[in-house]
Amino acid sequence: MLNWMDSLKGRSMMRLASFTDEEMLNLIDLAAQLKARRAAGVRGDLLHRKNIALIFEKSSTRTRNSTLIAVRDEGGNGEYLTRPDIHFGKKESVKDTARVLGRIYDGILFRGFKQSDCEALAKYSGVPVWNGLTDDYHPTQIFADLLTVRETFGSLDGVTVAYVGDGRNNVANSLMMGCAKCRVNYVCCCPKELEPDPAVLAEATEVAKRNGVTIKVFNDPKEGVKGANVLYTDVWVSMGEEAKTAERIKMLRPYQINMDLMRATGNIDGKLMFLHCLPAFHDFETEVTKDCGALEVTDEVFESKYSKVFDESENRMHTIKALLVSALCDRKSI
Ligand code: CP
Ligand code: NVA
Repeated sequence: MLNWMDSLKGRSMMRLASFTDEEMLNLIDLAAQLKARRAAGVRGDLLHRKNIALIFEKSSTRTRNSTLIAVRDEGGNGEYLTRPDIHFGKKESVKDTARVLGRIYDGILFRGFKQSDCEALAKYSGVPVWNGLTDDYHPTQIFADLLTVRETFGSLDGVTVAYVGDGRNNVANSLMMGCAKCRVNYVCCCPKELEPDPAVLAEATEVAKRNGVTIKVFNDPKEGVKGANVLYTDVWVSMGEEAKTAERIKMLRPYQINMDLMRATGNIDGKLMFLHCLPAFHDFETEVTKDCGALEVTDEVFESKYSKVFDESENRMHTIKALLVSALCDRKSI
């Protein structure tokens, strides 16, 4: 029996803060159920005849394909619309595009630059809008991350996630809030210049306190990761920040996740895993890394038994499916 909460029906998701703790945990449960159902060979009709627009201003492998296949698996249809395809924000205001697409589609997944554009789409389209990454937040990613932790360790209880790298990017902002809501301790290891925005940190800290878990920020990565069960990193230069590449590589070199840092957790023989939202610069095969080698994580860690990054990326599909089904499925449960 699949169950989703009534409160999620018709809801947009701009950022995790707008979901209750219970709603977040329910979405993770539902994703696990949908994953088992797909593994059993069921291709259902929970999104029968639902049309979803995917507006993407930035590149994507996981979010784009996870959404398109999640929708198709359940009998719906997704349309992928990049910036050159539509007038969005150029010949037509975001507000007008929202009003047009809201009359055609049942929901919109947006990946772009400005959080305010995502919010305008939700405000003016009249249909649920999901944030598939903006400069500020990447909420759909975190459901997949926490589902992966739960699958690997059996539970989220008592887990400490240490995020190492650019502590104020979209993934870090959402991960911090997701951990606080799901009662997971969060440690951010980053240089002073890249510490979380004080308002984002304060908002998540309030939730963490209420839930009896902690959020800590360290500039020394070896000190910060002590006792951690999950080492998590992301690219050092997010999409749209390419001009800062040289500066970031210099600043973040000491924050690379390598076997030394994995050992510094003290959990190398115990409960320990490595996560990365991907794409990752872990080897010499990409255009960016061919001259400088691995950046945020070494190949040794990325390819190790601790690495659950491909489970994590698969879970993007199951978790996005849970979000869409909760918001759009006309049935209460099946
Ligand atoms: N993690 C993630 O969002 O990947 P994509 O950029 O490939 O969608
Ligand atoms: N912080 C990264 C995440 C990519 C999924 C970016 O915004 O490029």
